Amino acid sequence: MEDKNQEVILEMKDLSISFFNKSGEIQAVRGINYTLHKGEVLGIVGESGSGKSVSSHGILRLTPDTGKVKTGEILFHGKDILKMNKKELQELRGNKIAMIFQDPMTSLDPLFTVEYQLNESLKKHTNLDAVARKARMIELLTLVGINQPERRIKQYPYEFSGGMRQRVMIAMALSCDPELLIADEPTTALDVTIQAQIVELLKELKDKLGMAIIFITHDLGVVSEICDKIIVMYAGKVVEEGMSRQIFYERCHPYTEGLLASVPKLDSDVSEKLKPIKGNPPDMSAVKPGCAFAPRCSCAMKICVREEPPECELDETHKASCWQVIKKAMQNT
Ligand SMILES: Nc1ncnc2c1ncn2[C@@H]1O[C@H](COP(=O)(O)OP(=O)(O)OP(=O)(O)O)[C@@H](O)[C@H]1O
Ligand SMILES: [Mg+2]
Repeated sequence: MEDKNQEVILEMKDLSISFFNKSGEIQAVRGINYTLHKGEVLGIVGESGSGKSVSSHGILRLTPDTGKVKTGEILFHGKDILKMNKKELQELRGNKIAMIFQDPMTSLDPLFTVEYQLNESLKKHTNLDAVARKARMIELLTLVGINQPERRIKQYPYEFSGGMRQRVMIAMALSCDPELLIADEPTTALDVTIQAQIVELLKELKDKLGMAIIFITHDLGVVSEICDKIIVMYAGKVVEEGMSRQIFYERCHPYTEGLLASVPKLDSDVSEKLKPIKGNPPDMSAVKPGCAFAPRCSCAMKICVREEPPECELDETHKASCWQVIKKAMQNT
């Protein structure tokens, strides 16, 4: 639950990131804002290419050289990460914020055993001696639900199934006892049952360790179980933001509606047909005026293709950027 008494740990303020190549500028992230409290779980949801990874990589300053932060601040305990020096950044990456990347095989080195890789991570991020590190490794693997950790630690990543590899990745991320864990589509490559197990695991870990989590996914169904609040991204912007229940039961942006209709719902009838959103996300190297979703939106009005909708505050925690929402709000006043 959003708890106003809890300390704010991360504040994203008007972050914009663009990539520059021969054909011009790709506006990957266009002015996003959000706040994360201690121990809170934030879901970032949106179709492929909506800017989920680029904005989150920005938190660890992992934007590639071809990318540029055009505007904004990313405050961690009030300090702008974008202005941190090398030493502060190292401290942040190693001990405060950890990330699980989209593809575990790109983050685990196939040439080394899990023990070697976990040990290296612990050496880098802690002052533990060899004996304590070994104990910590076993503890971490047990924590993420890997049976017979003493035996499995000697194995190579390819000897683990997809779900187990993801658990190893999570163990690695936890090795520095982070205050914030960023999980970038940690379940995309997994089947539905394993996906649910990983989400359950993260939920348990959050309760046990009290860390905040940013959970990135394109599947709104996946986050329903774990998130306190959710931001919905489209074409580099946040189009709707709310507490989990507001997004599931009081959503008002047609894009959020479309996302929910395209994934199986927990309470839905099996015979209910899934409806994918028609059309494709816009080309971010040629951003047009108006609402970026307008060409795919069944309720688009004339103004939608002409003018970008401002953010409309429905209540303290629920916001949406949509002309239809603004129209309805005006009719009700
Ligand atoms: N290194 C890069 N160079 C140029 N463009 C990039 C680069 N990385 C990302 N982009 C572009 O930035 C936009 C946002 O990409 P991002 O990876 O954040 O999407 P995403 O929401 O994480 O999608 P997915 O669900 O597929 O992971 C996309 O249009 C993408 O093509
Ligand atoms: Mg991504």
